[in-house]
Amino acid sequence: MRPVVPFALAVLAAPLSAQSLLYRSPNLGGTWTPDGGVIQFNFAHRFYVAPAPSHTVVNYPSFTLAAGVARHLALGWHFGTHSLIPSVTPSVTSSNESELYARYRHGPAEGQNGFSVAVTPAYNALARSLDGEVGVDWTSGAITLEGAARVMQKPLGRSGGAKGAIAGGFVARLTEYVAVSADVGSLVSPTTLATWGAALSVVIPGSPHTFSLQTSNAPVNTIQGNSRGISQRHYGFEFTIPLHLSRFRPWFHRSERVVRINQPFMNVAAAAEVIIEGLRFGNDTVTISAGQIVKWVNRDNFEHTVTFNAPEAAHLSGALTPKGELAIRFDQPGTYPYHCLPHPTMRGVVVVH
Ligand code: CU
Repeated sequence: MRPVVPFALAVLAAPLSAQSLLYRSPNLGGTWTPDGGVIQFNFAHRFYVAPAPSHTVVNYPSFTLAAGVARHLALGWHFGTHSLIPSVTPSVTSSNESELYARYRHGPAEGQNGFSVAVTPAYNALARSLDGEVGVDWTSGAITLEGAARVMQKPLGRSGGAKGAIAGGFVARLTEYVAVSADVGSLVSPTTLATWGAALSVVIPGSPHTFSLQTSNAPVNTIQGNSRGISQRHYGFEFTIPLHLSRFRPWFHRSERVVRINQPFMNVAAAAEVIIEGLRFGNDTVTISAGQIVKWVNRDNFEHTVTFNAPEAAHLSGALTPKGELAIRFDQPGTYPYHCLPHPTMRGVVVVH
């Protein structure tokens, strides 16, 4: 049986290959790029509560969608509502701001000590402006310092006005799971109301997600939106969601796998059985002889996979529907470690003699 491991040791301190709010403050784009094969969806929701007596709540949803297209290279989309651009440029009527961007980063992986720099050319579709940012950050132990220099062809949709902005911030990680961060930013010459933001960020243990509670006066998460503040104080949260495309394989291959792997062996006696219940493989090591069958039985109400770690064994991998079963015959002696794709802390080993 699997030994009882203290929970804190069973999970990774850094989120599992994901963009983390423990290394970025609320209004700095940061230097991150998703890994190849990962689409990062970061959802930020801020709101403003009007003073008494109305207490009307105005919501400011925004999101970032970014894909790793090559090592250190990402394409992304920032979307925010309640843009400042139409208030400054009356010919612009939509208040939803979209920014398409590319980012190239150079430096150690996020969370590693050292200095990173990222170049982010962007197109702000509402302002019809070519924008850009050079972001830097420096991480040493529990501290990350961040800086950004920004240029805008048409700030807030106008051809005049300040075309540059600077911003800076820091993150202090209090533990492996909790951090505080803050930042300021402003257009330069002529200056406008500066942006500021502060956050309390956490890693959700055992998951690739981070979550932060935020307060800020920046309504939109674009290069332009992060450079000019408003007079209202907003509160809200951000949630980071890495979508590993390989996790979606069962959408497309589930029925094929069930037929190909399950069907021939389902009525044959299995040499070993692994019960999956409560997000764990019941016995983490099973030992069989070559040519024998291992059966997995899923008692959970959601899907798991038996995904072999070694590329040579990838063809054996399969998915279990909720309450489903999976039987796999092992013909080659060897040691076959495996895990569950949606729940990477679920691990097991098949030893074939
Ligand atoms: Cu699972």
